[in-house]
This record gives sequence, structure tokens and C-alpha cells, in this order.
Amino acid sequence: MWPYPKVLAHRGGGTLAPENTIAALRCGLAYGFRAVEFDVMLSKDGIGVVMHDPDFGRTVAGQGNVARTPASDLVRKDAGAWFGPDFAGETVPLFTEYIDYCRSQGIWMNIEIKPVPGHEAETGRWVARKTRARFSEELRAGDVKAVPLLSSFSMAALAAAREAAPELPRACLFDTLPADWREQAAALDAVAIHTNQKHLTAALAAAVKAAGYGLFCYTVNAPERAAEILAWGVDGFCTDRIDLIGPVIHTDDAQRESLT
Ligand code: G3P
Ligand code: MG
Repeated sequence: MWPYPKVLAHRGGGTLAPENTIAALRCGLAYGFRAVEFDVMLSKDGIGVVMHDPDFGRTVAGQGNVARTPASDLVRKDAGAWFGPDFAGETVPLFTEYIDYCRSQGIWMNIEIKPVPGHEAETGRWVARKTRARFSEELRAGDVKAVPLLSSFSMAALAAAREAAPELPRACLFDTLPADWREQAAALDAVAIHTNQKHLTAALAAAVKAAGYGLFCYTVNAPERAAEILAWGVDGFCTDRIDLIGPVIHTDDAQRESLT
């Protein structure tokens, strides 16, 4: 139901490095993380880049929007200086560059399809096609642990991903689980539900598990909370605090801790 690692570094390296950069992946590796979540959206010319915000101003300086900027301009933008002088010069990665780096380092990926609003289907389709092409060998071999998991808050993006590459696993991302989460997950033939840990209860976790889905939470930054939700049956989570929560957690330890 969840053949993947239990703990993922959120946006590459959590809060220890500029999000969604190759430096973040290097930081995650330094802390022993070989599993990440990151965000991907399309440039003006329809090329996937690893970014979280559609608008400039936070992680890249200036004004502008990813969907109105060609990839050749995006990859020249500094995505590290905002975080600190040590990271100045870290650029916006192309999606293909990012997944190739992950593959070369044996880093498992939860790829969050994060379309710029209005570009849902094309983003889902593009990400699915590229991912399938890069992982054709693993897919052919049935190596499910090695194949990335696609997730999105956009059900339209997931539907397009499904149409383009039905063999890639998908997860529905919800902030709060909607009343019809079962129907949405079934319609997309999803393997997992990803949700905000803040709104999760033991009863909701039990319902998701009883329905046969993997259950993943974002973003868990306190070891005690990690222990609590793991004891509820949560299969995995991402964290910003890779310095506080290690890459490997044994469920038994987590359950023991939650009882003390
Ligand atoms: O994929 C889980 C999590 O990353 C979703 O929220 O805003 O951090 O992309 P966000
Ligand atoms: Mg994300």
C-alpha cells in the first residue's frame, strides 16, 4: 500500500536550504535523506521547472510569473540568494535536471504537480510524459519502489496525468479531506491520499487506511507529532526539519514514544 520511504525531505531539504534547488537535495543527502517531495510547474514555453510559487518575489527576485516567462530565462534566475549568501547563484532547476540528479543519487521522488492556475491539464500531461520517459526501465521491470509518485491538489492535473501515463502512480492532495475524497480518489485510480497533518484525526486516518489507500501527510516538523500520526496508521510524511526528524523511523519506536 505504501512501498515508499516513510520520511521525505519537503521541497528538497526542508528549511535548511533554499527550497526546490539542487542545493536542497545536496543538503538532504548530507542529512541522510534519499526521499524528497518537490513542486513542478510549466514555463511560458511549456517546460517543467522546479518551483513552488507561480509569481516571482519570494524565492526569485523581481516581478513576473512562471507561466509568462520562458524556461531559458527562468533557469538563469537566482533561487538561492533569498535564503542566504552561501546559496547565492543557485538557479531554478529544470524538472528534467532535478529528476536526473535524484536518479543519480538514488533519491526517491514524490513529484507534486503544481500548475500555475489555468494550466492544470497541460502541466499534468507534461509531467506524466516526462516522468514516464525517464523511468521507462523501472516501469518495465515493475520496480514500484523506484518509480516516483505523482501528487497534486489539482484533480484536473491528475486526470491529465492519468490519461497521458496511466501506469504512473497518483495521489490526491487535499488540505482538508473533502466529504467525497473516496469518490475523487477512485475516479483518478489513486494509490494514496496526501493531506495536511494539521487537520488529520485518528478517525480520518483509520477511514483512509480501511479504504485501502496509502496515507501521507505534509508537513510534520515535530517528532512527537510524527510519532502520533504514525501510530494512527499514517504511512509517510514530509518534513521541513530534517535536522530534527531523521530519514528512518521505525513504527514500533514511534508507537512506543507516543505512549510515553
Ligand atoms: O506535497 C505536499 C506539500 O508540499 C503541499 O503543500 O504548499 O508545500 O506544496 P506545499
Ligand atoms: Mg509541495
